[in-house]
Amino acid sequence: MKTAIITGASSGIGRAIAWELAREGTDLLLLSRNEEKLRTLSKEIQTATGRKVLYIPFDLSSGRNYDLITNIALENFDSIDILVNNAGIGYSGSIEEITREDIERIFWTNLFSHILLTRSVIPYMKQQERGFIVNIISLVAFKPMKYWGLYNASKSAMEGYFKTLRQEVKKYGIHVINVYPGWTDTSFFENAGIEQKVKNSFIKRFMDSPEFVARKTVKAIKKKKKAVYMHWWGWLLAKCHGLMGG
Ligand SMILES: NC(=O)c1ccc[n+]([C@@H]2O[C@H](COP(=O)([O-])OP(=O)(O)OC[C@H]3O[C@@H](n4cnc5c(N)ncnc54)[C@H](OP(=O)(O)O)[C@@H]3O)[C@@H](O)[C@H]2O)c1
Repeated sequence: MKTAIITGASSGIGRAIAWELAREGTDLLLLSRNEEKLRTLSKEIQTATGRKVLYIPFDLSSGRNYDLITNIALENFDSIDILVNNAGIGYSGSIEEITREDIERIFWTNLFSHILLTRSVIPYMKQQERGFIVNIISLVAFKPMKYWGLYNASKSAMEGYFKTLRQEVKKYGIHVINVYPGWTDTSFFENAGIEQKVKNSFIKRFMDSPEFVARKTVKAIKKKKKAVYMHWWGWLLAKCHGLMGG
């Protein structure tokens, strides 16, 4: 695990994965929109672990320049060993309220950017004959939430897309790992405008920490697992979904 590109690294699960990978000896290229947060995080990780940590302030919903990220990684590292497709935003609203702008914002951030960035690194991973594409999906891929139509759709599509990719790239030594967190205590809900609802609900007590999700994810990379569930009920949900044909 020599080098990793992590999207959505400025907070929550992406930030925790950055720490966990750096502690395992991985050099990092971190992406998100917030430059200040990325600068501080890079310095902190570099000082604590001695790893090389670069960052690019980048809006993944822009629909542009995904190859630029790969090129910067290749200019600074000898290889690209891990890509973590983590960046994602929530959307809460009834189907009737959804606008074209909402659709574009959610799908570019949560799905299209991951597809295009992955497409951009695959040729180099093929050359290296190794690599990990790690996708932070969600249990909503198996159990859609009411009023979260766009988000559910983006995660279900991610699930289908990266399962297909796994079959295509296995022969090149590239491993595709899908991670399915449940409720996790990050700024995700605040950004989706439902922080208060979550704070006051019983769910808050059952949330996982982003560090827990990160530890499970990095362990799965080491073990070359295909799928990561945080708890047995996540695994069960996925199995039932599969058995009933989705
Ligand atoms: N929290 C949960 O309960 C939960 C459950 C299942 C799955 N997930 C998934 O886990 C992933 C991480 O979410 P989180 O819970 O850690 O939430 P978070 O703390 O809000 O982190 C989201 C990250 O994505 C980045 N991001 C958002 N829009 C972006 C854009 N347009 N371009 C670049 N970066 C962008 C954010 O950074 P900037 O704001 O700096 O751009 C931030 O670093 C998401 O894919 C989410 O769907 C979360």
